[in-house]
Amino acid sequence: MSVNLSDRAHLALGVCYYPEHWPRDRWEAYARQMHDLGLTYVRIAEFAWSRIEPREGNFEWAWLDDAIETLAAEGLDVVLCTPTAAPPAWLARKHPDILAWNADGQQLDHGSRRHYDFSSPIYRSHSKRITQAIAERYGKHPAVVGWQTDNELSEHQSYSPTAQAAFREWLGERYPEVDALNAAWGAVFWSQEYGDFDEITLPNLTVEGPNPSHVLDFYRFASDQLVGFQEEQVAILRELSPGRWITHNFMRFQPDFDHYRAAECLDFVSWDNYPTGGVELSDLPDEEKARWARTGHPDLISVNHDLYRGLKGGRPFWIMEQQCGQINWATTNPLPASGAVALWTIQAWAHGADVVAYFRWRAATVAQELMHSGLLRHDETLDRGGEEIAALDLGEYPNEPIATPVVVLHDYESLWAYDIQPHNQRASYWGQFMLFYSALRALGVDVDIRHPDSDLSGYRVIVAPALQLMSDTRANHLSSYAPTAEMIFGPRTAYRTHTGRVHEDGQPGPLRELLGLSLLNVDGIPDGTHVSVGDHQATIWAESYRATAGTATHRYTDGPLSGQAAVIRNRSVTSVGAWSASLISHILETALEHAGIETRPLPGGVRITRRGGNIIWLNFNNEAVSINGGPRVSGVSAIATRDA
Ligand code: GAL
Repeated sequence: MSVNLSDRAHLALGVCYYPEHWPRDRWEAYARQMHDLGLTYVRIAEFAWSRIEPREGNFEWAWLDDAIETLAAEGLDVVLCTPTAAPPAWLARKHPDILAWNADGQQLDHGSRRHYDFSSPIYRSHSKRITQAIAERYGKHPAVVGWQTDNELSEHQSYSPTAQAAFREWLGERYPEVDALNAAWGAVFWSQEYGDFDEITLPNLTVEGPNPSHVLDFYRFASDQLVGFQEEQVAILRELSPGRWITHNFMRFQPDFDHYRAAECLDFVSWDNYPTGGVELSDLPDEEKARWARTGHPDLISVNHDLYRGLKGGRPFWIMEQQCGQINWATTNPLPASGAVALWTIQAWAHGADVVAYFRWRAATVAQELMHSGLLRHDETLDRGGEEIAALDLGEYPNEPIATPVVVLHDYESLWAYDIQPHNQRASYWGQFMLFYSALRALGVDVDIRHPDSDLSGYRVIVAPALQLMSDTRANHLSSYAPTAEMIFGPRTAYRTHTGRVHEDGQPGPLRELLGLSLLNVDGIPDGTHVSVGDHQATIWAESYRATAGTATHRYTDGPLSGQAAVIRNRSVTSVGAWSASLISHILETALEHAGIETRPLPGGVRITRRGGNIIWLNFNNEAVSINGGPRVSGVSAIATRDA
């Protein structure tokens, strides 16, 4: 590929900017201030369709030409967006069919954003048309260095008649006969069997919960629609904007589509980091939410860094939108702690970001986001976040590669299967994933995140927290690493086949030989109670095993599973069935020791990570901390030291 992805030797900064929100006579001053603040990249136009094309076919380019030239005059690099996240009113009125329908069967309307239906052929043709127009105009502009497609692709599961027709077609391509679909979904249950693809509807508006295999295929379909939508834009940009890179800004923990597939056509991945909102909307207990309200939780942030670095096999990524003050869309929207904006910036770099761009330049004086901060206040003075980034010495943060022998496996289809039927409503895929991820980070270990079907050679510890879907092919692939790696599997591993049925020989189906066990019982643990595995307490979920080849190393000591195995070890493979942070930490520590990987147990709120020749010490606590064998780090700050 002939695009230059990262020509910066060290961390570079950028900003999200909306020239169309501001009087023309402020543009020069803003561009100069951006330059003086040390910014390199400016992202524009993702919501500017109504200004680019106020009436169908009437393009008004003069203002955008001018905006780009004004930025270029200060030496700023422009990241241009396709403006499809906010289709204009005229399009919705002319073609109501482009509007998405929610799961209650109601059509949504114009008035915010993301109101379009990915399955609408009319919207798809307008998306290609506007992409073509903007790429023809600016694809070879010297100041335009790269592209962002749309904005935060999401909310793509439309329940419209158009989506229903497309779903039937998608099913027809996937299943040779409708009886194959009936078998895959187990449609004999409650007389759901179909005689023809035209009898199938979308899995909403059912009286009781829909068939989980039906929902799983709907998720796959909706994910494919989103991927196809983006690929159409990328194909046009590739043709009309040679030598420029293309990225997309994903969201934290966004569960609903296969990000690995969506990232395939991109040069690199970006994501949008809003740490305080992440805490407020998380499953953390209330006292933990209060503790991390102004800094964000270190692991809830870094897991997204590691995930997005892994989408393209470890390639550096960007933060396209970094919170730089208070946000407006969470519960209480607190002001971040002093130092937090700088800390988040260094943390992102430490986990592999080459560029951090802030949302947004000046705080909006109008509309939905006028309570949201920017680098500048409403009155144009530099706000607290702006002051923090002005003080950063970017030369201290070289863009070097990240390497670690520990990998955690993640698969969106397993996520869907898990969360479609969590069994205990407190259980969730990400909740279970985080038990393992946080334990590794608290042990001071760096972590890659990869798809289970990817090449895992070179990893000495492979952790699979929640791989619920297991085909023979996947089982064979994973088994091939057992001779060279320590492997750890979490609860509900291999619970189902690819179509969401249970394996006819029970769990873990095709992984039985590798794990050396069969599943006996599962237990959704009632709120306010726990079961014990010796000194370890499990909440939310417990499952027990019969050893078929392995050995039980831990057993339940009370509750209905008392006496049965909670952990089975089979050669280099350990399976753990209980939601217990302390037990999981103990299992991981033992596996790391077997693999000869050094651990460094860290105090709460303190994390370390390594990038190239640097060790980065991050302290999310308000108080200073002296790290065992490391430096003293002030409250809410980070230090990078060269590795000895
Ligand atoms: C992001 C979005 C931005 C803005 C921001 C506010 O999710 O991409 O357009 O809305 O949130 O925090």
